[in-house]
Amino acid sequence: MKILVTGGAGFIGSAVVRHLLAATDHAVVNVDKLTYAADRRSLEGAEANGRYAFEQVDICDEPAVRGVFARHRPDAVMHLAAESHVDRSIDGPGAFIRTNILGTYVLLDVALAHWRGLSAAQAEAFRFHHISTDEVFGALGDAGFFTEETPYDPSSPYSSSKASSDHLVRAWQRTYGLPTVISNCSNNYGPYQFPEKLIPLTILNCLAEKPLPVYGTGSNVRDWLYVEDHARALTLVLTQGRVGESYNIGGNSERRNLAVVEAICRIMDRLRPRAGGASHAALITFVTDRPGHDFRYAIDARKIRDELGFAPSVDFETGIERTVVWYLGHEAWWRPLIERQYGGERLGLAGMK
Ligand code: NAD
Ligand code: DAU
Repeated sequence: MKILVTGGAGFIGSAVVRHLLAATDHAVVNVDKLTYAADRRSLEGAEANGRYAFEQVDICDEPAVRGVFARHRPDAVMHLAAESHVDRSIDGPGAFIRTNILGTYVLLDVALAHWRGLSAAQAEAFRFHHISTDEVFGALGDAGFFTEETPYDPSSPYSSSKASSDHLVRAWQRTYGLPTVISNCSNNYGPYQFPEKLIPLTILNCLAEKPLPVYGTGSNVRDWLYVEDHARALTLVLTQGRVGESYNIGGNSERRNLAVVEAICRIMDRLRPRAGGASHAALITFVTDRPGHDFRYAIDARKIRDELGFAPSVDFETGIERTVVWYLGHEAWWRPLIERQYGGERLGLAGMK
């Protein structure tokens, strides 16, 4: 297949591109606007591969998106391009509404016109896969799990924009027959994640011996999935998922935020002990909570396990160690980002009175 991947220069998208080129024979067309969150250096291996093409295009730019479809005639779309950071959506929702909702609409509309022009066999095989988030389901209390039937109840501008785009994708399948599939995944972590997110931010703050900000009491719970497992799961959903269905993807690794930060501190104490011998945990600082902070996310992943045979291969202890080691070994990747793009300042308090 020739797969058009949107957002392939981002954290998860680059893992998907690397996985598709390394583990399959598919060709990849990466469509990415290259926002602050993108980095083509995450794709170094790919750039030289004859099965890889790059198009710098904004998915909201309909003529440009039409041009990409006309030039490359994809057999499938994996749509990951999005504004992805909850705190930034609190400070500036406009970009999230534009890219996540309008951009998804443009892609659906162009994909539909393309699909209608395919032969019967090609049209039957075509897929539009929307990569979404478990945040569309809102917050859980101490008990329970999100299933594919959990009603949507998003809390942030980010998650409501992703919920909107999921609804559009479902509508294009039910109304126009476009063969779509949706996946809703929990928190990803691993190499090449932009240092605004909790795990890379904590690792780099430890290295700089800066305060480690923990929102509220640190008791909020996330379910962590190693990004390379997510890339594998997405390939299964694209190639074997049933049209019109959605699949929840999780890591079976629920952790309180404070436990995640403490785990990173223990690894850093071993690999990069502080001068003077104090633990990195002494840098933990409880700060004002995120407005609208969802308490707990947890995935019931039985459907993707039973239908598509997916299970995570990396447990949290292995994945977090691997991630810390990766950041310690890749200063040349993250140093320019923290110097030029984002220096670690607190985001997401614009909603506070
Ligand atoms: P990211 O912020 O690291 O990367 C997003 C990519 O999209 C960037 O390369 C950026 O340049 C591109 N992009 C943004 N706006 C664009 C536009 N208008 N046109 C073209 N390209 C544009 O995001 P990520 O963490 O890799 O997330 C990828 C997808 O997976 C998103 O749709 C997100 O909602 C979803 N998701 C993320 C997580 C997570 O934990 N990170 C979990 C579940 C689902
Ligand atoms: O659940 C999937 C979602 O996971 C994705 O859809 C989003 O794109 C992705 O960004 C992520 O959202 P979160 O808000 O959960 O991720 P973040 O890394 O921003 O925060 C993780 C948790 O850590 C959250 O409860 C807020 C908290 N936090 C975050 C930061 C940046 C802190 O306590 N301190 C921090 O400095």
